[in-house]
Amino acid sequence: MLRNISKIKTTTKLPIRCLATTADPASNPNRIHGGLKDQDRIFQNVYGTYGHDLKSSEKMGDWYKTKEIILKGDKWIIDEMKKSGLRGRGGAGFPSGLKWSFMNPPGWEKNVGPRYLVVNADEGEPGTCKDREIIRKDPHKLVEGCLLAGRAMNATAAYIYIRGEFYNEATILQTAINEAYKAGYIGKNACGSGYDFDVYIHRGMGAYICGEETALIESIEGKAGKPRLKPPFPAGIGLFGRPTTVANVESVSVAPTILRRGGDWFASFGRERNSGTKLFCISGHVNEPCTVEEEMSIPLKELLEKHCGGVKGGWDNLLGVIPGGSSVPVMPKTTCDNILMDYDALRDVGSGLGTAAVIVMNKQTDIIRAIQRFAHFYKHESCGQCTPCREGTTWLQKMMDRFQAGQASEREIDMIFELTKEIEGHTICALGDAAAWPIQGLIKSFRPVMVERMKQFHEHHDNKNVGYGGWIKDGKVKDGIVVDNPKPAHH
Ligand SMILES: Cc1cc2nc3c(=O)[nH]c(=O)nc-3n(C[C@H](O)[C@H](O)[C@H](O)COP(=O)(O)O)c2cc1C
Ligand code: SF4
Repeated sequence: MLRNISKIKTTTKLPIRCLATTADPASNPNRIHGGLKDQDRIFQNVYGTYGHDLKSSEKMGDWYKTKEIILKGDKWIIDEMKKSGLRGRGGAGFPSGLKWSFMNPPGWEKNVGPRYLVVNADEGEPGTCKDREIIRKDPHKLVEGCLLAGRAMNATAAYIYIRGEFYNEATILQTAINEAYKAGYIGKNACGSGYDFDVYIHRGMGAYICGEETALIESIEGKAGKPRLKPPFPAGIGLFGRPTTVANVESVSVAPTILRRGGDWFASFGRERNSGTKLFCISGHVNEPCTVEEEMSIPLKELLEKHCGGVKGGWDNLLGVIPGGSSVPVMPKTTCDNILMDYDALRDVGSGLGTAAVIVMNKQTDIIRAIQRFAHFYKHESCGQCTPCREGTTWLQKMMDRFQAGQASEREIDMIFELTKEIEGHTICALGDAAAWPIQGLIKSFRPVMVERMKQFHEHHDNKNVGYGGWIKDGKVKDGIVVDNPKPAHH
């Protein structure tokens, strides 16, 4: 890894190619992405090679010329972020520069009072383990990112909402914040720039729904974490009724390096509209699960073979991959063979990059059981405000319990699909969609496996003896109520 990267002067004026290692997409539209070089890694300490204290961070380039960047002003920072093409790393992939600019509509100065950047460090999406690595190993990137993103939005303070279970991470982060205050980097007259900016940590209680931006705001305000109806959007009325933007830890932490090396540098990685480097967290049936920073648009196969020692049992033993955390649809192996890891490529095949939490499943996986487990998770985490989500996730869980055992009729596959369509897009927040998509993915790619499971169950129970709702004809009815219809054992 290259140390003292701070000594490298990189602005848009520098010939970018002396640092960036990728070929120019214009001259070679068919180039393969990936193979990120150490000098182009933003998170140089992701494996904890160095300390996470202020001194070590400064050696790695953090807090270098921060004052000069602040003094360039909000417009310059926002323009540079727009140029970089960074899309929000919290899952939705909305362009960060544009989102941050919503805090500064014409005449924003007349709305006098506090304005907030809220950093989302809840990281509740199953499979995702990148934000915690940033906080553990590179906390100063986040603290400096708060200051610069805050400057872009003309915010007066940042609240970092950190998941309750991350006790050690919260401790490391608080130490980094204290160090930054002591060094005069944040607080009054931050970095000697004349700009005042505070950073606070708020610890959550480990509820997945509190990762949703408006539920998170409610939670900081001391209320139950239930999403708000939008509009109004947080940039208009957010935390404590003031203009607020919620941004993911990774989105904020990459900002200082982007601003030092230039938006064009960041944009030189990955395909158009999918630019940058990205932390991928790979878990499941690979030989070496890891979190690694790579170039966006790297082929999935290369990502797994280069950084994770390949699929357990070899590539041909691959069953499918969930490429962006538990809420995005699973892709079968045939899709995985050639897919690029970026927003557009994954959307085009009916899945999504989400948080880039890559869950690999080989042929030893019971795919119905895997998706059934997700159904339990979403039912458990639903806040219960909207009927389609509250009731729908309960039904999804119950049906998936039966599907796992095969105790269902084939037509019920269409019924559960229809149920997911009734939930998707009909709720206050995207948890409803997140519950629906994994099941849609299962049906789309693994319907024959579901049908086969049902066939086996039916054969075991004297064929044709299983009706809708998993009804088995020798179940007992008392006063019109089924009292003895065997149900699959709870997981
Ligand atoms: C149910 C649910 C849970 C979410 N959990 C997280 C989370 O843990 N971390 C996160 O950054 N974003 C999470 N999000 C997305 C946030 O609402 C928000 O879009 C994101 O923090 C914005 O940051 P970005 O623009 O930098 O991506 C979640 C969304 C939903 C619907
Ligand atoms: S979709 Fe689910 S989690 Fe989101 S607000 Fe509605 S009930 Fe709550």
